[in-house]
Amino acid sequence: MKSLVLSGGTGSRLRPLSHSMPKQLVPVANKPVLFHALEALADAGVTETGIIVNAGNTTIPAAVGDGSRFGMAVTYLPQDSPRGLAHCVLIARDFLADDDFVMYLGDNIFASGISEELEAFRRNRPTAQLLLSKVSNPSAYGIAELDGRDRITALEEKPARPRSDLAVTGAFCFTPEIHEAVRNTKPSWRGELEITDAVQWLVSHDRDVRGTVYPGFWKDTGTLHDLLDCNRVLLEAVEPGVQGTVDTLSRVYGPVVVEAGARIERSVLVGPTVIGAGSIVEDSYVGAFSSLGRGCRLQDAGVESSIILDHAAVHGVRTLHDSIVGKGGEVRLCADSLPRHRLMVGDDCRIEIPA
Ligand code: G1P
Repeated sequence: MKSLVLSGGTGSRLRPLSHSMPKQLVPVANKPVLFHALEALADAGVTETGIIVNAGNTTIPAAVGDGSRFGMAVTYLPQDSPRGLAHCVLIARDFLADDDFVMYLGDNIFASGISEELEAFRRNRPTAQLLLSKVSNPSAYGIAELDGRDRITALEEKPARPRSDLAVTGAFCFTPEIHEAVRNTKPSWRGELEITDAVQWLVSHDRDVRGTVYPGFWKDTGTLHDLLDCNRVLLEAVEPGVQGTVDTLSRVYGPVVVEAGARIERSVLVGPTVIGAGSIVEDSYVGAFSSLGRGCRLQDAGVESSIILDHAAVHGVRTLHDSIVGKGGEVRLCADSLPRHRLMVGDDCRIEIPA
């Protein structure tokens, strides 16, 4: 069984981070979202993966390489512009050949992996099997209706009046019958070839289409808040361990990872938290659910429930909470006696300041 991982798109809701990196490379628990996806697929026994990337993108191939670090062979499939999930199946036709495959959205997190669900598909081999998840805002997703058991009877993309609260998530198991469905799919109102329409074609043609409600935590990392939620859930599962140095004046509580070359001095760390390789934390407090990337610098800082990307710095500010600081970003106290803010805010940034 192959996999098709979708890693194109614009990432408009993740600006400014997505101005400088594809949304699939934003780190969660100190690892790009896409790496979590590839690990989940490798754990499920997938050894051949096609990754759809925006045409001309070089950062995803540079990060993932030939796939050997994940124990799989990776082929890159460029897409000229985001024309929908079913369009990705269309352009991957040669790569997929006549094999069964799992299509996986590269910005989705399935916290407990998808091994059991793939195993069930291999065992029963219906025409298609979709992973579903109950959501509170069904109009934002593709929505599936079940027959009371596990058979999908209807699907609708972002319905104005949803008939169920079961969202189509980012994992779809397909037999090669999907290719005929995709060929018969027309662009939707948003101008895209929707995978929900292609699967609806299978349903309308009496094929065996099943839905499995995913029992674990699932999220599409569409917004900064989604990223922070995923960070919190995945940090709960990290194996604690200190490879860097923690001086005797520092205190560590709960599960904490301090990667090689990181240095913690006169500081308090509360897990679950990851401090990336080569980061320096001095006279600071790093609270639960924080992840610092590589080469970060915290001085007289307080950071909690936040994601700090590589080479970013926080100096003198002790109140960072539920925040994301991009690569090389800097948050510092200004040497100004007046209570005012001096900011250099990049394109599409959002800054929240207490009243
Ligand atoms: C896509 C699918 C939708 C699905 C969602 C899951 O939506 O079209 O059916 O529920 O992914 O993340 P999009 O992210 O393209 O709006």
